[in-house]
Amino acid sequence: MKNIPRYISAALAGLVLLASTPAVKADPATAGPQFNERGELVRPEDYRSWVFLNTAIGLTYGPNRPPPGAPQAFTSVFVNPKAHAEFQKTGLWPDGTIFALEVRPALTAVSALDGALTQGPRVALEVAVRDSSRYPDGGWSYFSFDPPRDNPTAGFRERAAPFPRTAGCYSCHQKHAAVQWTFTQFYADAFERAKQAGTVRKDYDAARKIEEVGH
Ligand code: HEC
Repeated sequence: MKNIPRYISAALAGLVLLASTPAVKADPATAGPQFNERGELVRPEDYRSWVFLNTAIGLTYGPNRPPPGAPQAFTSVFVNPKAHAEFQKTGLWPDGTIFALEVRPALTAVSALDGALTQGPRVALEVAVRDSSRYPDGGWSYFSFDPPRDNPTAGFRERAAPFPRTAGCYSCHQKHAAVQWTFTQFYADAFERAKQAGTVRKDYDAARKIEEVGH
């Protein structure tokens, strides 16, 4: 590299380093939750290339719920392909499952048909991880990568510590979700599979309303 200016060789060295860092881009087929040495979850970058489970409208609670009269928000849920493949076999979400849920406001598409709604920019990103040895109390932990509420322009967080067990995530999911604390009842194809496999909670009652405050 004798005749190459120093800043170019430094940039090249940086590229080589990036390419050799394993956490940069996980293979989507085998992707799973990645933690740093402090037990914080690293934000999954490529969740939109995972298995898509569902988009719902109007299923937001709490601070993400638009005011009365405004268009509702969309929530979309994705799961890592490896866990989904296992779920297809057993009807259960295995250890190593990671779900991503994003919230996007509904925008009225002015150039389209009246009443059409499209998704706006992402406003929230929440994640659930199953790991029964790391989280022996129920097997799940919940995370939020949302920008800090007091500093929304800071952008989505790179890392997130698990919510404490007292957070509303645990109680609402445990109480109202139909399959292992997951809202598989709203993910049509996966729910069919769970019903076939007999993994839906025996006391699941589709008529029971969720009236707590959530995302
Ligand atoms: C009031 C009940 C409620 C609370 C509280 C709640 N959720 Fe959920 N959650 C839901 C519902 C309903 C869904 C179904 C998916 C949707 O909204 O489209 C869901 C789905 C999810 C999913 C997709 C995987 C799954 O389990 O089905 C993630 C990830 C998630 N929630 C994270 C969180 C986090 C993190 C918190 C706490 C900050 C939280 N939730 C609190 C009701 C709740």
